[in-house]
Amino acid sequence: QAQRDKHLKDLYGILDEAARFYEEQLLRHPQRQLAIDYLKGRGLTGQVAKAFGIGFAPPGWENLMQALGTDSRRLEGLEQAGMLIHNEERHSHYDRFRERIMFPIRDMRGRVIAFGGRVLGDEKPKYLNSPETETFHKSRELYGLYEARQANAQLQRLIIVEGYMDVVGLAQYGIRYAVATLGTATTAQHLERLFKLVPEVVFCFDGDAAGRKAASRALETTLPVIRDGQEARFLFLPEGEDPDSLVRREGSDAFSARLDEALPLSEFFFRSLTEQADLESMDGRARFSTEALPLIRDMQPGLLQQMMLERICEITGLSLEQINSVINLHQATAP
Ligand code: UTP
Ligand code: MN
Ligand code: MN
Ligand code: MN
Ligand code: MN
Repeated sequence: QAQRDKHLKDLYGILDEAARFYEEQLLRHPQRQLAIDYLKGRGLTGQVAKAFGIGFAPPGWENLMQALGTDSRRLEGLEQAGMLIHNEERHSHYDRFRERIMFPIRDMRGRVIAFGGRVLGDEKPKYLNSPETETFHKSRELYGLYEARQANAQLQRLIIVEGYMDVVGLAQYGIRYAVATLGTATTAQHLERLFKLVPEVVFCFDGDAAGRKAASRALETTLPVIRDGQEARFLFLPEGEDPDSLVRREGSDAFSARLDEALPLSEFFFRSLTEQADLESMDGRARFSTEALPLIRDMQPGLLQQMMLERICEITGLSLEQINSVINLHQATAP
């Protein structure tokens, strides 16, 4: 155990040094202007870049390696921290992140645990993330959560967005409480973590097919975990916009107004299910209820669940007892 603690401490140390190295390159590297122009072009000030520890991985295959050390123990540590890639054929290592804007990902305590890196142009892949390591578990961590807590003495609400630039772009406009999932879907673990900190979470994904799909999945993930006293809402953006592009276009007041009007979870739930249903017909109402009931059944017991069941009663014209007996029937026959 002591050995494992020491090992983890080494990894955190390496990641911290790496973050400092990239930040330093943004200030001193001969080609830093490329990165600075890019960040300025995206509307970011030095102040916000600094608050998030944004850095620059210069072009080249061995920059980080040369800066942080090339003895075999160090190379192994850098590799385990996700910063170097091992080339099996050549028996050598090279920097994972090259010629990218670097976003350090921190845990809740502020320790750097991973990085995201964005290309300066249109090359692919646009974003590269650290792999899963002993310090980085994608399905648990949220980009920007540490920074949001730092910026707000008392957090009331958190916004869940898709990308690094959405978090940073919103912060640039004074909305300093957005967090991003790291190229994965929102998980129950994410939500449990967030609801320990705030009573309200607003999902705000990109205004495109992928973003809408992410919202539907987030709805399904949220339903079983949300409790009375907690609120989840959904903000849908105009086609082609993401939080970063929209706040730049509209400004923070307009964006905040959208946040205030975001769709409550129950409304999104009934809206998305009724969209595909023909509630005019008995058959359509039965089909709709058959889809809705298992999802409501799996919710935490409480007021919201009861109210959503009542809504089903209104739609179907059945009593709560009748609905309950159907649910119990389902439960009894479930495998
Ligand atoms: P998007 O594809 O929406 O980013 O990915 P974007 O808004 O266009 O990026 P910008 O504004 O041009 O910088 C959103 C998130 O999905 C993950 C990243 O976490 C990114 O922030 N992603 C995206 C990847 O991991 N890899 C990719 O190649 C693309
Ligand atoms: Mn190796
Ligand atoms: Mn997108
Ligand atoms: Mn974007
Ligand atoms: Mn986007």
